[in-house]
Amino acid sequence: DWTTGNVIEEQVARIRAQIGDGKVICALSGGVDSAVAGALVQRAVGDQLTCVFVDHGLLRAGEAEQVEKDFVAATGVKLHVVDAVQRFADALDGVSDPEQKRKIIGREFIRVFEQAARDVVAKEGSDEVKFLVQGTLYPDVVESGGGTGAATIKSHHNVGGLPDDLAFELVEPLRALFKDEVRAVGVQLGLPEAMVYRQPFPGPGLAIRIVGAVTPQRLEILRAADAIARAELTAAGLDRDIWQCPVVLLADVRSVGVQGDGRTYGHPVVLRPVSSEDAMTADWTRLPYDVLAKISTRITNEVPEVNRVVLDVTSKPPGTIEWE
Ligand code: XMP
Repeated sequence: DWTTGNVIEEQVARIRAQIGDGKVICALSGGVDSAVAGALVQRAVGDQLTCVFVDHGLLRAGEAEQVEKDFVAATGVKLHVVDAVQRFADALDGVSDPEQKRKIIGREFIRVFEQAARDVVAKEGSDEVKFLVQGTLYPDVVESGGGTGAATIKSHHNVGGLPDDLAFELVEPLRALFKDEVRAVGVQLGLPEAMVYRQPFPGPGLAIRIVGAVTPQRLEILRAADAIARAELTAAGLDRDIWQCPVVLLADVRSVGVQGDGRTYGHPVVLRPVSSEDAMTADWTRLPYDVLAKISTRITNEVPEVNRVVLDVTSKPPGTIEWE
């Protein structure tokens, strides 16, 4: 029967059987899933693992530091950091279609990892890296049509967007688990609670929270608005009550506003607070009005390009959690 201890034991045995004495790299995204997957593989094969963190420039404020400091401190893994900000910006230039964004990001991720694997080999003078760890969860598998034959709803970058000429064999120790189970495993493995209970954040990052083309300036605007929303939700003690709260920038939409004596023609951001057990279905969270007011006031005061804050009151289904 299912216990966290059993899951860990079983996965550690499986991982050892799959990897043998090979070299493995793990894609750390900053999220819970890749952190737990990486920690599991480290438990199984120790320093045969090197974790790779790609800074694609699509992360939220403070997230790169969290991976580079907190995760390393908690696990002691070897970490290889790749600065790929410009590369992703170039690849996404002018692209506004959501599926295109996901495919481009998935493709670039793999390319960067292949290079990272070569760099790890060169740096350590070790055998070729054959395996890549991914924090794919059961809902990702289902929604990408894997295992059920169901139609693709969205191509999650860590399932559907992989190129055909993939040079790694995948290690996916979380493939049978739901999010709450992953968190239990993470706690059991000794990861810090702040990391384990972090709200989910999609692999393609802020790129799929900008409706429209991704630009450095738009990323900066969204990052600022998102940081304010997160800070106020935390200050209100609501982190554990909501599943996640995407902040979405409607970059191609403008509306008229007024600030001081001046007319503005700025962008709206959408708050998308949701309650969920496993992200397969969700309800919009009834946040207290005073918290919404605080977030709205701060964003429109502190982020000059944003002159309107709107609330998404759609369940999943019919709306997905993310806007893209
Ligand atoms: P949707 O928008 O499909 O999202 O209702 C369900 C959950 O999955 C997250 N999400 C992703 N996670 N790569 C990921 O690792 C992705 O491409 C991706 N797309 C969505 C989303 O944040 C939510 O928690």
